[in-house]
Amino acid sequence: CAEEGVRILGEGKFLVSDSFPGNERTKYCLTSKIPLGVILAIPPFNYPVNLAVSKIGPALVAGNSLVLKPPTQGAVAALHMVHCFHLAGFPKGLISCVTGKGSEIGDFLTMHPGVNCISFTGGDTGIAISKKAGMIPLQMELGGKDACIILEDADLDLAAANIVKGGFSYSGQRCTAVKVVLVMDSVADALVDKVKAKVGKLTVGPPEDDCDITPVVTESSANFIEGLVMDAQRKGATFCQEYKRAGNLIWPLLLDNVRPDMRIAWEEPFGPVLPVIRINSVEEGIHHCNASNFGLQGCVFTRDINKAILISDAMETGTVQINSAPARGPDHFPFQGLKDSGIGSQGITNSINMMTKIKTTVINLPTPSYTMG
Ligand SMILES: *[C@@H]1O[C@H](CO)[C@@H](O)[C@H](O)[C@H]1NC(C)=O
Repeated sequence: CAEEGVRILGEGKFLVSDSFPGNERTKYCLTSKIPLGVILAIPPFNYPVNLAVSKIGPALVAGNSLVLKPPTQGAVAALHMVHCFHLAGFPKGLISCVTGKGSEIGDFLTMHPGVNCISFTGGDTGIAISKKAGMIPLQMELGGKDACIILEDADLDLAAANIVKGGFSYSGQRCTAVKVVLVMDSVADALVDKVKAKVGKLTVGPPEDDCDITPVVTESSANFIEGLVMDAQRKGATFCQEYKRAGNLIWPLLLDNVRPDMRIAWEEPFGPVLPVIRINSVEEGIHHCNASNFGLQGCVFTRDINKAILISDAMETGTVQINSAPARGPDHFPFQGLKDSGIGSQGITNSINMMTKIKTTVINLPTPSYTMG
């Protein structure tokens, strides 16, 4: 951010009206980028520091001040971080932190006339915020139903490793988690066996023990996930593991033979439960991906780069990863979602651009007939 800030803000433009009829070279246009003012940053509970910093960095380097509204279940981490900024000598007020429940202070903050831009990452409250916010730049990254399409020629070991990492790290509580596997039927048995073996090795327990799968964030999240699992069970999905839950802790679960009439085929569990849909053609996979109301990321596993690029073009998502699980980083890559997954594009340069406005000043010289003598 620091480097980009120097480059981009220093890049002011100087234009001349050399082809404007009757005004040849009489208009000089100076353009600069200036800060918006106050940026409201609302990061999510799953990465309360990382996804706050990805907003704070660009906001500050572009010359703005910032109000941070941390997630209720990540507020302590955010307060410690803001304290560090103050210890480092940041003037008080450059970053302010306001804690509280979104239901109580959300509207006050997002509709506040002093807020000039909102950068939000989280769930579908983002849709409500975007309707209320008014005419200010918005950067919204909401949920996703990131699909992983596996072709017949894929490296199945690579795919399985990425599916498990992508689907189950952070207990599946990531916007860019792999949320549905769309695998060609001819390789589905082999892929499911490999994924199942890896899921069986995940450790389950408290975060203090460094377990792979830990309790999900709230009881209502756990109940929601359970609702999706029960729906899939009723409608005949194959359970690759036994369903187990203790409080908010849900054991990792791979659901095979999921069909489009099951809720889990479309909804985002935000937990350690991953559906597998067997497909008979690549088109079927693309169709499922595009029919989703989400469009964050997707991935495709194949050894045929030409096919991969065609599939990437056809998938209606902000990003498609070829031969890797979806992910936000590296930080300077653009990151954006389509449809209900959001608006605006993040990434260092894109965020700086969004958090600045263009200002032009035009100097009007005398007409060409004016003589200097
Ligand atoms: C996405 O898939 C649908 C259904 O298969 C198709 O109609 C649409 O053209 C696809 N989008 C793109 C960008 O190819």
